[in-house]
Amino acid sequence: MPLALVTGATSGLGLEFARQLAARGHDLVLVARNAERLSSIATDLRAGGRSVKIVAADLSTTDGIARVAAAVRTYEIDVLVNNAGSSIGKFFGDTDIEAENAQLTLMVQAPMDLMAAALDVMRPRGSGRILNVASVAAFTPRGTYSAHKAWIVNLSRWMNIRYSAEGVTTTAMCPGFVRTEFHQRMGVDPSDVPGWMWTTVEENVREALADLGKGKPLSIPTAKYKVLATVAQYAPAKLVAAMAKRGRKVAE
Ligand SMILES: NC(=O)c1ccc[n+]([C@@H]2O[C@H](COP(=O)([O-])OP(=O)(O)OC[C@H]3O[C@@H](n4cnc5c(N)ncnc54)[C@H](OP(=O)(O)O)[C@@H]3O)[C@@H](O)[C@H]2O)c1
Repeated sequence: MPLALVTGATSGLGLEFARQLAARGHDLVLVARNAERLSSIATDLRAGGRSVKIVAADLSTTDGIARVAAAVRTYEIDVLVNNAGSSIGKFFGDTDIEAENAQLTLMVQAPMDLMAAALDVMRPRGSGRILNVASVAAFTPRGTYSAHKAWIVNLSRWMNIRYSAEGVTTTAMCPGFVRTEFHQRMGVDPSDVPGWMWTTVEENVREALADLGKGKPLSIPTAKYKVLATVAQYAPAKLVAAMAKRGRKVAE
């Protein structure tokens, strides 16, 4: 069975990636910090006939990243889903620099180290698929979060050009607003986001896996966010920045 490693598999998009990949016949390595949640999800997926390993690791630490990179190499994975992520509920300048450094490690260093490990096993084999969960925020000026996502979109596009001829494709997925635990964990109240802007984990993951299968460099799930992402790339930066403030009201 092809083996997929999914980071941030205990909730939201990562949990849905685990479920849809299992349904497509993949065995799994699931990564997140919460060992109890990982065990319970693994038990459910094993009941469906899949082999599931878990690695409890904090990807905002170098030790956590090293342990997951070792799993990528040891298990010689076929699919890497760099999904784990979060955001600070304040903008750079009002944030604590230690928290920013931990975010940079989680959002940039972790996916980079895991991609390096994945390339080490995928290139000699001549096959492999890498999916990096970015965001439509990558196309907007919106503090360090959007800068991290822009970094991974840019690197994914280049990697797809560089390594797809060797059989290793890289896709950057750019969702819009998705109903998950993300905003609650960030401590913000997203009630200023209109209902039509919300999407589901099911539709996002279904479209992203279809694009991953085709080896596309960029996957922007749902027609509405394809339009919004295009507008964001060509509209005046100040207007785009004003629009991108939605979903960041500090919760009372
Ligand atoms: N929701 C949205 O509107 C939205 C939009 C665009 C992009 N995204 C991106 O989608 C990805 C998934 O987010 P989500 O919306 O599904 O959020 P979520 O429901 O909060 O899930 C985040 C996942 O990441 C894991 N995680 C967080 N920090 C971690 C750390 N330091 N080390 C290891 N695992 C960690 C969490 O598990 P543990 O707590 O167990 O570690 C959890 O499984 C993120 O990269 C996010 O930036 C989300």
